[in-house]
Amino acid sequence: MAKLKDSEHLLRLAAVFLVIFLSFLFIRTHFVPKSFGLYGHYRADALKEITARPMAFAGHQACAECHDDVVKTKAVGKHAVVNCEACHGALQKHVEDPASVIPQLPDTGVLCARCHEANLAKPKAFPQLSTKKVSVIQVNETGKWEDSQKHKFIEWLKGHYSAIHFEALRGDSDNALFDYLFKRKNMFLVMGAYGRTSLSQFFKRSAADLLLKTITQPIFIAHH
Ligand code: HEC
Ligand code: HEC
Ligand code: HEC
Repeated sequence: MAKLKDSEHLLRLAAVFLVIFLSFLFIRTHFVPKSFGLYGHYRADALKEITARPMAFAGHQACAECHDDVVKTKAVGKHAVVNCEACHGALQKHVEDPASVIPQLPDTGVLCARCHEANLAKPKAFPQLSTKKVSVIQVNETGKWEDSQKHKFIEWLKGHYSAIHFEALRGDSDNALFDYLFKRKNMFLVMGAYGRTSLSQFFKRSAADLLLKTITQPIFIAHH
């Protein structure tokens, strides 16, 4: 009997295991959903619940019924593999009632970058671009932009750029621009003007020469 002298320890341990086992059984019978495991390692009732939810996406084929022309255009384009709703958003409601639910056309400045913005995690073969920041600068007496002017620039630029910023420099155009541009790096400067007179006004010969000679960044002067 000497061998089992300390058997009490083992019994205590066994009791602890028994309690753990019983509570496991209790939790399992009470908390595992009834339909779990019916078809596989998941809750079978989830299928019913998911199918009962209202549909958000209509699927590619649905669009073809009414927008056959777009489907044909897309089939031969670069986005042949991209589904309509990947760009246009979920449109089941539009399919059910196309007359009253008319989808808004996507804003290309935001849309294209969503898939094509450069990102190391994307496969190398995927066409990627980094969106460049655009600063629209004007020099005026107030040092402020008017909202109506801003809207026009946004309309023009949003097709190509999504990061558009506005800056207004106060003062006289030559000096203010020169100060602003002189020490900038990694930029491509586009200067615009309408007609020769305002070009020459805005951009005096001496100032133009000075800018062209001293600024080491590429400059493009547009006017028509
Ligand atoms: C039952 C027919 C029908 C189906 C299906 C349908 N559409 Fe339309 N769609 C229309 C009609 C009609 C208009 C309105 C045209 C108008 O008045 O400019 C429209 C307009 C649009 C517009 C806006 C066009 C514009 O010029 O503003 C987009 C975008 C569009 N549909 C995308 C889709 C997509 C994507 C699908 C598939 C998920 C789809 N539609 C499915 C009939 C349909
Ligand atoms: C890669 C993104 C992309 C995909 C994929 C795409 N669209 Fe578009 N779609 C656009 C953009 C952006 C515009 C707006 C163009 C504009 O503003 O002029 C547009 C415009 C439209 C218009 C209105 C102008 C027109 O040409 O009639 C309809 C309708 C339309 N798309 C339907 C569809 C359907 C149907 C599909 C699938 C077969 C589809 N689109 C796939 C991005 C996409
Ligand atoms: C939902 C994601 C998605 C959106 C949004 C999207 N694209 Fe694409 N785009 C793709 C995919 C995917 C490919 C590559 C298809 C392939 O390789 O077959 C592609 C390919 C292209 C290509 C071809 C590039 C090449 O080197 O062949 C161009 C250009 C392009 N997209 C421009 C655009 C423009 C412009 C927009 C905005 C109107 C846009 N994409 C929006 C997914 C998208």
